[in-house]
Amino acid sequence: MDPVLHHNFSAGAISSSASTLLGQHKFMEMIRTQNISFRERISSRVAVKCIASPPVEDVPALAHRTKVARNEHVAKLQVGYLFPERAQALSTVQGYTGYGAEQGDKNLRAAIASTFYQNLGIEEDDVFVSDGVKCDISRLQVLFGSKVTMAIQDPAYPAYVRSSVILGQTGPFQENGERFAKLEYMKCTPDNDFFPDLSNVARTDVIVFCSPNNPTGLAASREQLTRLVQFAKDNGSIIVYDSEYSMYMSEAHKPRSIFDIPGAQEVAIEVSSFSKYAGFTGVRLGWTVVPKQLLYSDGFPVAKDFSRVICTAFNGASNIAQAGGLACLSPDGLKAMSQMVGFYKENTGIITETFNDLGFKVYRGVNAPYVWVHFPGRSSWEVFSEILEKTHVVTIPGSGFGPSGEGFVRVSGFGHRDNVLEACKRFKDLYK
Ligand SMILES: Cc1ncc(COP(=O)(O)O)c(C=O)c1O
Repeated sequence: MDPVLHHNFSAGAISSSASTLLGQHKFMEMIRTQNISFRERISSRVAVKCIASPPVEDVPALAHRTKVARNEHVAKLQVGYLFPERAQALSTVQGYTGYGAEQGDKNLRAAIASTFYQNLGIEEDDVFVSDGVKCDISRLQVLFGSKVTMAIQDPAYPAYVRSSVILGQTGPFQENGERFAKLEYMKCTPDNDFFPDLSNVARTDVIVFCSPNNPTGLAASREQLTRLVQFAKDNGSIIVYDSEYSMYMSEAHKPRSIFDIPGAQEVAIEVSSFSKYAGFTGVRLGWTVVPKQLLYSDGFPVAKDFSRVICTAFNGASNIAQAGGLACLSPDGLKAMSQMVGFYKENTGIITETFNDLGFKVYRGVNAPYVWVHFPGRSSWEVFSEILEKTHVVTIPGSGFGPSGEGFVRVSGFGHRDNVLEACKRFKDLYK
C-alpha cells in the first residue's frame, strides 16, 4: 500500500504545516519596536520577555568562531512566529507561565468572539477555549449526563454517537437495524436534500447538528436552520451545533454559525476548532460557545455548569497552542487560513470532477472538504475495499458514519496536490 496516499486520504488527516500559517501578529510589531516585550499574560500578570535569536554576548567568549560572515539579511529577521516566541519565553524565569484559566486566554476568547461571532450576540465570556471539538463533545456529554435523550444526523461524525453510548444515554446496539436503541437518528439522504424531516423526528433533550456536515458536505440553509432552531425551541431542546467546517463554505448566503439565526442563543451551543481552518489537528485548539442566555429547565445557566465541568475535567489548552490561535486570528493569519482552505477546496473540486467524469452521482462539497460519492446498490465496505485493494487509496465507507451512509464512500480533499492528482488518476483507471 502506498503509505503517502494512505495517510492523506484517511479521515480528517491534514497535512498542512501550522507554521506556514502564522502571520506576524500585531504583538510582533510591539516586540519589534520595543525590542523586548511579548505581551502581558492576563491570567498570571507576568510580562513575558521574548528573545528572537540569542544575543551575541550570550555566546561564550572563548568559543570557536568561523570566518564566515553572518548573512545580514537573516539578521534583519528580528523575531520568529508566535510558537517559538512563546516556547522560548516559557524557558525563562520571567516568561514562565503555568496553569492558565481553564476557560482560555482572555485575549484569545475575545479574538474568537470578534472574529467568528461579531454582531451575533456572543461575548468573550461565552467562549470557552479547548483542545478541539472531539474533546469538547465528550465534555458536553459529561455536562448533560446519562439521563438525556439525544438526536444525531444520520450519517454523522462518529464521535457524537460513541460519546453518547459511553455516557449511557443509549440502549444496546441493535444488530439488525445497525443503530443504538434510544438514540434518535435523523435521516439525511439525497431524498431530503440531506436535511432531516423534522416532522418525523422525535423530541429529544439534545440535538447534535453538524453543518457543513461530515461526511455529506451539506451546509444547511438559513431557512433550514431557522426551522431547526424553532424545532428546538418548541421542544425545549438544546442544539449542539458543530461548525468545524464553516470556513469551507462557498455559498455566502448560508449561515456560518447557528447564532446567525435569531433566538439561537437561547437554545444552542456551538463547537468549532482550528483543526481544519489552520491545520491544527495535531496542535489541538478549539472552542465551545455556551451563551449565557441558554438555561436549564430550572433557570440555571448552562454556561456555569459547563465552566464547572471544564475546570474539573480539563486544565486549559496549551499556552503555546493558544498563542498560535491568536496569531491565526491576526489579519495575516486569517489570510493564510483562507488560502489553506482554498487549496483544499481546489483538491475537493479535482476529486469531484474526476467522479463526475466517470459518471458517478457525486454530492460535491462546495461547502466542505469532502466528496460524497454514491454507489447505488453496493455496500460501502465493498466499494471501500475495492478502491483500497486496486488503487491503494483510502476512502471512508459511508456506513461507518451511520446506517444512511450505506452505498456511499467519502473522499477527502485533505492532502498534497500531487497525491490528489495521482489518486484521481488511479480512480480513473479503475472505473473508466
Ligand atoms: C464534524 C467534525 N467535528 C469534529 C471533528 C474533530 O475535530 P477536532 O480536531 O477539533 O477535535 C472532526 C474531525 O474530523 C469532524 O469531522
